Amino acid sequence: MKRIYTEAEWKSLRFGLFQENKSLGFVPTMGALHQGHLDLVAESLSQTDYTLVSIFVNPTQFNSHEDFQNYPNTLEADLALLDSKGVDAVFLPSTDTLYPKPPQLSIDFGHLSRVLEGKFRPGHFNGVGLVVAKLFHIIQPTVAFFGQKDLQQVAVIRRLVFDFSFDLDLVVVPTRREIDGLAMSSRNLRLDPQERTIAPLLYSGMQEVKQHLLSGMSWKEVKANFLKQLAAQKQLSIEYLELVHPETFEIYETFSPLGPCSICLAAYVSKIRLIDNLPIIE
Ligand code: PAF
Repeated sequence: MKRIYTEAEWKSLRFGLFQENKSLGFVPTMGALHQGHLDLVAESLSQTDYTLVSIFVNPTQFNSHEDFQNYPNTLEADLALLDSKGVDAVFLPSTDTLYPKPPQLSIDFGHLSRVLEGKFRPGHFNGVGLVVAKLFHIIQPTVAFFGQKDLQQVAVIRRLVFDFSFDLDLVVVPTRREIDGLAMSSRNLRLDPQERTIAPLLYSGMQEVKQHLLSGMSWKEVKANFLKQLAAQKQLSIEYLELVHPETFEIYETFSPLGPCSICLAAYVSKIRLIDNLPIIE
């Protein structure tokens, strides 16, 4: 597996792939890799000729310095894992490589920037948009792979690709869960054993919500029940729980089985913020 640190190193490799007419799959990550990332890698390996994974903890998408500082770093283990899966190359840019100067431009994704993650993490999607646009320009992938776990991020990237006319395909890979239903996330590493036993309640709760909605209960009632049930857990606090259109993120006040909709939530388990979502109608 090639380790690439600079844009120049990658450019000559990329040129070779163009000449050989080979498709390039790109999996952007911030490291601390888990099976969810490996699912994206497996998709890329099976769908494209050459797979590049980037590992870069992007400072501009964190709205708390503490969160950025505490982001887990497992670089050596990550590299060994990617190598063992047959990844062709890994891009490991420094902050100076991607941000030689602080960015002046900011990206406003409109409604997507103002609801759910956009509302509770102001500036987050601007940071994601900036870094992903830079990576797309540098890497020039044929296909880029993202996880459904970050549903709103997927909507933001779709918009970025459309509005900036990036010539690539997006592939969205279903959320990988632990046996007890907890969505895999690098942040799970920060849960202590007690917190880890509480975290799966988010998924089991969403599954109940889905059943109740499909059996005809109103969203208002189902939401109130779910919030009440979780309020009984001292270490758990819900930041938001919404029923939305999975691409536009229009927030629905009532449930209709006639069009696509998903439930999305963010919650703190003690100090660890987790997000998850579940499609109700696909
Ligand atoms: O989903 C992530 O890990 C990050 O938001 C991404 C897409 C790698 C951009 O930093």
